[in-house]
Amino acid sequence: MGDPILARAQQTKEFKEWNRKWGAPFGKLKLLKAVSGLPLLRRSSTLRRAIGPFGCQFNTNTRAVEYPWTYFQLLNSQRSTILEVGGALSGLQFVFAMEGHEVHNVDPFFDYGVGDYRVDPLVEHEKLNRLFGTNVTLHKATLPELEFQRSFDAVICVSTIEHMSEADIASTLRSVKRLLKPGGLLVLTVDLFLDVVPFTASSTNKWGTNVSIAWMQQILGFEMGAGRVAELYGYAEFSSEDVLRDVAKYDVNKNYPQLAQLVTFRSPKA
Ligand SMILES: C[S@@+](CC[C@H](N)C(=O)[O-])C[C@H]1O[C@@H](n2cnc3c(N)ncnc32)[C@H](O)[C@@H]1O
Repeated sequence: MGDPILARAQQTKEFKEWNRKWGAPFGKLKLLKAVSGLPLLRRSSTLRRAIGPFGCQFNTNTRAVEYPWTYFQLLNSQRSTILEVGGALSGLQFVFAMEGHEVHNVDPFFDYGVGDYRVDPLVEHEKLNRLFGTNVTLHKATLPELEFQRSFDAVICVSTIEHMSEADIASTLRSVKRLLKPGGLLVLTVDLFLDVVPFTASSTNKWGTNVSIAWMQQILGFEMGAGRVAELYGYAEFSSEDVLRDVAKYDVNKNYPQLAQLVTFRSPKA
């Protein structure tokens, strides 16, 4: 489960069970369907709690792999301090908090291709904390702006890097390097778009760009978790032809030509 890879179309048994338990990635669908014509009822706290933490935000099907994969990277941690970069209003931060971890979510709530957030994120986030009995701290900022004077056991970042500028990625990774404890883990899921370089001549699409994972590793100077660099954009072993040839085995976003790269980096032990 630790290999850095492109997310597979076939979910593992553990992922299916995890998604069922938490109603990921769309919320508990049977309940949602049952109340689809009843907007007032859908706003009730009891019902929102029952729908679960993943029913509060728009998601894509590749998250059915990205969320459980990220979760299982940290499964063996004791109660830990987790920093999520770009956590938005996603359910994962609340799952970790419900399981007893101390969670900080750093997100400036920038438009990432879908327009502005329709709710006030701070108000909505506070509501979600109350709903799930959690205490996730939301920082509406970028990570370098925060100048945290503390450290974290783990940093997670789900489907966010590809929406950021090169300068923001570099400064964010330098902050991560400073903030991760020795031996701490950075868990990343990064979109691989099939409609931009290296698959086509366009450098960007409406969502962002393909970011070299090898370049990110150079900035971090961390070891990668064991596995195949052939499925991570930017490494010499990566081949766009191979990805396209094998595309049927990967989990493709049903609404957009996009796959999800999954990778971890570990900071050196002291
Ligand atoms: C596609 S959403 C992903 C949200 C969430 N991780 C999830 O699983 O649904 C991308 C998020 O990246 C955030 N973002 C954009 N630039 C950022 C930056 N420089 N630092 C942190 N987050 C950023 C956006 O505000 C947005 O909430």
